[in-house]
Amino acid sequence: MATWDRNSTTDDVLAGLDLSGRRVMITGAASGLGKESARALAARGASVTVLARSEERARSAVGELEELVPGGRCSPGVVDLADLSSIRAFTDTWLDGHDAFDVLINNAGVMATPYSLTVDGFETQFGTNHLGHFLLTARLAPALLRGDDPRVVTLSSAGHARADVDLVDWNFATTPYDAWVAYGRSKSANALFARELARRAGSDRLLSFSVHPGGIITDLGRHLTEDLMNDMMRMMADRATAAEAAGQGPGEPFSFKSVQAGAATQVWAATATGLAGQNGAYLADCGPGVPGASPDANGFESWIVDDGRARRLWELSEELVSEAFPI
Ligand SMILES: NC(=O)c1ccc[n+]([C@@H]2O[C@H](COP(=O)([O-])OP(=O)(O)OC[C@H]3O[C@@H](n4cnc5c(N)ncnc54)[C@H](OP(=O)(O)O)[C@@H]3O)[C@@H](O)[C@H]2O)c1
Repeated sequence: MATWDRNSTTDDVLAGLDLSGRRVMITGAASGLGKESARALAARGASVTVLARSEERARSAVGELEELVPGGRCSPGVVDLADLSSIRAFTDTWLDGHDAFDVLINNAGVMATPYSLTVDGFETQFGTNHLGHFLLTARLAPALLRGDDPRVVTLSSAGHARADVDLVDWNFATTPYDAWVAYGRSKSANALFARELARRAGSDRLLSFSVHPGGIITDLGRHLTEDLMNDMMRMMADRATAAEAAGQGPGEPFSFKSVQAGAATQVWAATATGLAGQNGAYLADCGPGVPGASPDANGFESWIVDDGRARRLWELSEELVSEAFPI
């Protein structure tokens, strides 16, 4: 298996691959890492369903992708992950016309939003980033299982390190709201979901990964106020101090990645061979997360590899979306 690093780009990791015939669906594909993943995969021949939360966003992204990849096969789809009825409407229609597909990239996300609730009454980050993707994947799972080497890649983040999931007060009914804690909970949920999906499906049926893409300047930061930025800098400084105290050295100073390098790990997870032994893993910089390292150096917190928590989150999610996951 080739090895890649933090500077490897989508085009590097896909170089030489022929993805013709591979059917991919990407959420949040009208911007940032999702759009770059769509471009790079389509450029190697994959057919890509470009999901966005409005018809206009989806169509305009497909228009841009057609210019970037002449002859590429991209088609639009509309799904609002903050509205369970929108997910049901999209999957009902899509499954009417399609029997199977191969790769789902659960990429869409919101970060550090002010307190608000989704249409169905869930805290927006948990509801959008986790529950929306949980229901979308559940509804598409039978079609994925009919696919060829099916994979589900779910975007997590080093931001998971801010908070474990709260299986009791997921809506901050009694806990004071903190935008970073809510993001951390949702990104821990993404990693636990990926792990439990892998465990339930088994490597012979489906591969499932979570991904930390690195730090990339995208529209994700649209809700950041000066206070939230300062909080984030403090969090990262505290993590660096803790890493040093734990004898992990100062590590590399933080630097942003390009969008092309940021999206590399998710397209790598979607296509690389030889990953069955890593099923369920948290990935970063085109490789497995590093046990014991700081989250900012591709490490991860123990709670995202806790199988008991992963199972309980799964059961809670089924209850909250009022639907059983067919795996
Ligand atoms: N950028 C980073 O440094 C970084 C670091 C760690 C993890 N991540 C993760 O990477 C993923 C991609 O983020 P990005 O950096 O590419 O940010 P981005 O450019 O803001 O992309 C996020 C996408 O999600 C879509 N989205 C948001 N709410 C949605 C909803 N309710 N229904 C459907 N789509 C929705 C957005 O659509 P609209 O534009 O229409 O709102 C947008 O296209 C996220 O899951 C994020 O948590 C990013």
